[in-house]
Parts: sequence; structure tokens; C-alpha cells
Amino acid sequence: MYSKRKIEYYHVKQDQVRFSLDIPPIRYNLANLPEEIIEWVEHHGFDLISICDRKGRILYVSSSIENLLGYQPSDIINKNVMRYIPKRLHHDFIDTFQFDTPYRQRFTIQLRSITEKNVWVDLVVKPIQIKNPKKTIFLALVKNISDKKEAEELLIRSEKMSVAGQLAAGVVHEIRNPLTSLKGFIDLLKAGINRKEEYYNIIIDEIEKIEKISTELLFVSKPLTHNHSYQWLKPMITDVITLLNTQAVKKNIILELICPEDVVVYADRSQMKQVFINLIKNAIEAMTEPGTIITEVKKYEETCLIYVSDEGPGIPKQLIHKVEEPFFTTKEEGTGLGLMITSRIIENHNGLFKVMPDVEVGTTFEIQLPHYDPNKIEQEKT
Ligand SMILES: Nc1ncnc2c1ncn2[C@@H]1O[C@H](COP(=O)(O)OP(=O)(O)O)[C@@H](O)[C@H]1O
Ligand SMILES: [Mg+2]
Repeated sequence: MYSKRKIEYYHVKQDQVRFSLDIPPIRYNLANLPEEIIEWVEHHGFDLISICDRKGRILYVSSSIENLLGYQPSDIINKNVMRYIPKRLHHDFIDTFQFDTPYRQRFTIQLRSITEKNVWVDLVVKPIQIKNPKKTIFLALVKNISDKKEAEELLIRSEKMSVAGQLAAGVVHEIRNPLTSLKGFIDLLKAGINRKEEYYNIIIDEIEKIEKISTELLFVSKPLTHNHSYQWLKPMITDVITLLNTQAVKKNIILELICPEDVVVYADRSQMKQVFINLIKNAIEAMTEPGTIITEVKKYEETCLIYVSDEGPGIPKQLIHKVEEPFFTTKEEGTGLGLMITSRIIENHNGLFKVMPDVEVGTTFEIQLPHYDPNKIEQEKT
């Protein structure tokens, strides 16, 4: 509902404590305040403070845990932090957490609430060295960012819906062609014809084509998932090309893929596909003349390099730094969210995303992602 009020105001009657100080401190700071005030801050602050030992045992948690996850501190003390991190994130969290760095570490991660809801938080961890007996404990500051995340997901969803809408027209066309030929073959079969086997095979092929394209389209309109697993790049990009081919063909553009068979990344399938949809779709939209859009994947040591190049007009130098900003678009029907989402997704996959500078023709985007040896993954599975 639209409200003219610029601020929101609540008067919390239940909070009846009254504070008083006998004399004002010489200098105001948190540590100088009486314990009851600090306890109040601890409870009503929006952020959560916690201390854990090296094994993850929770030694202290501020009572604001109740606002964030619904627990009382006493429910949590001496339990292991991993209990409150969703299982699917354990592997990644343990992999990235550095026990012996003196630096501040920052994570964006989900925590599990008492009602089993996942809450997005920003987590800042700082080690504290204890000299005697020698050990390290960790101070953690936790901030609830679920509102921010929800807004972000909403943006992504609106971009996905708009892409799905734009693609739908082309896809309907793609489905009508095989339908027409299906009808033809069924008429022939009805008339009682030889070579039935051959026709059945063609019919099945056409049905599979329809199935594939409609599945891809449905996929685009669904919200992004957050399930990381090992993914073979080649079939994934091939799926995206199938989906975008109608748009390309209409403009006499060829979508080419150069990709070794064995490139495996650890990624969320729906998010990675979204990346390729965004880049290849932009490339198609940029090209006004017939030509080729090449998606090329190369392995370089632990990294795979992915290039999406088009033969369009290129991005003017002065705009290059702007294209990843949300809502920056030069298109009448554009949302200006595609590249922002792409760069966000790649960041979340520990990768790098950039526009290649100084290419001679058109535009080339580069993605760098860690890749894995498929042989080792097979071993891990067994
Ligand atoms: N391959 C490309 N060639 C030229 N310009 C591009 C290319 N990709 C993106 N851009 C520019 O970046 C802008 C932002 O792209 P994007 O975030 O995908 O939003 P949208 O496609 O909705 O405009 C585009 O409007 C366009 O000006
Ligand atoms: Mg776009």
C-alpha cells in the first residue's frame, strides 16, 4: 500500500525498563555503560554477536539471537555452529573457512531458524588469540540481510520473467513447425503406409524437440535455485543455444559452441544457464547484420575460461563500466538487469566476469571459473 509517511514509528510499550546513570561518564562509549544497558543493547540490537571455539562450539551468543533465529541463548550455548547452518552449505563453508588467518573473514550465508526457515545473513568472523593456554577462539558478528536478499531475488525474477516473455513468441513458432510435420506424418500413417518404423522415429524426434524447448522455456521462468553440484558445461550451454536459436535464426545469426567434452564446474545449474542466456541473448540483440556468435570454453590450469563473442557494434569505452549497473540499458524493451545478475552469479561461484577490453570486432565477455577433473568426481561418487 502506498503511504505518504516518510518514517515509520513504533512505540514498544512492553519495553518498560528505565535507565539511569548516577553521573555521566567522562567519555561516552559502549564499554563505559552499566551492564544493564549493555544487556539491553545486546538483546535489542539488530545484529547478533557470538563467540565460538576452534571446533565450532558456541561459547557465547547475544540474546538478540531470539530476534534472528527464534532461539534463547541457553538453547544454543555449547552446541556446534554447524547445527545452525543448512547441511547443503557445510561442505562449502568448511572448505572456505580459514582457521589460521589473522584477518577478518566475511561470508554471506544462510542460517537455520527454530522454525527451520533459512535466514540470509552477513557473517563477519575475527579470530581472538588466547595466550595461556594457547588457543584461538572466533568472534562472529551476524547481520540479518534477508530483506536485501529478497529484494535481489525479486529483481532476478522480474528479469527472468521478462526474458521468458520475450522468448515465448519465438518458442511458440519453434513448436508449431514440428507440430505441423507431426500432423502430416500421422495423416500418412492413418492412410496406411509402409515404412512405419521410419515415420515413428521421426515423430518421436519431433516430439522430443518440442519437449526440450518447452522445458527450457519453463526453466527460464522459474525462480533461481541454490543447489550447487558438478555440472558438465558442454550440454548445459548446448541447452541454452537450443533455446535461443530461434531468435538467432530470425536474424541470420549462427550460434557456435567450441567446448571440450570434459569441462566440469561446481555450480548451480539454473544460475549458470541464466548467465549464458543473458550473454548470448545480449549478443543476438546487439547484432544487426548476419554473423556468428561464438561461445568458446578453454581450460587453463585450474581455471576454465569462457568467452562469448559477437560481431555487433561493441560497447563504447565510456559505457563499459556502466553496463553491469542495475537498470542501465540502451534498449527500449531492456531491463538493464542481465549483466548485473550475471556478474552477481559468477561472483557467487568464486569466479570472475568482465568485458574484454580492446577487442577489434564486436564485444567479448569473459568468465573465469574453477573447473574440476571429471575422473576425480567419478571416484568421489563411488
Ligand atoms: N554484446 C553486447 N554488445 C553491445 N552492447 C551490449 C552487449 N551486452 C550488453 N550490452 C549493453 O549493456 C546494456 C545492459 O545489458 P543488460 O544488463 O543485459 O540489460 P538489457 O539487455 O536489458 O539492456 C545493454 O542495454 C547494452 O547497451
Ligand atoms: Mg540483456
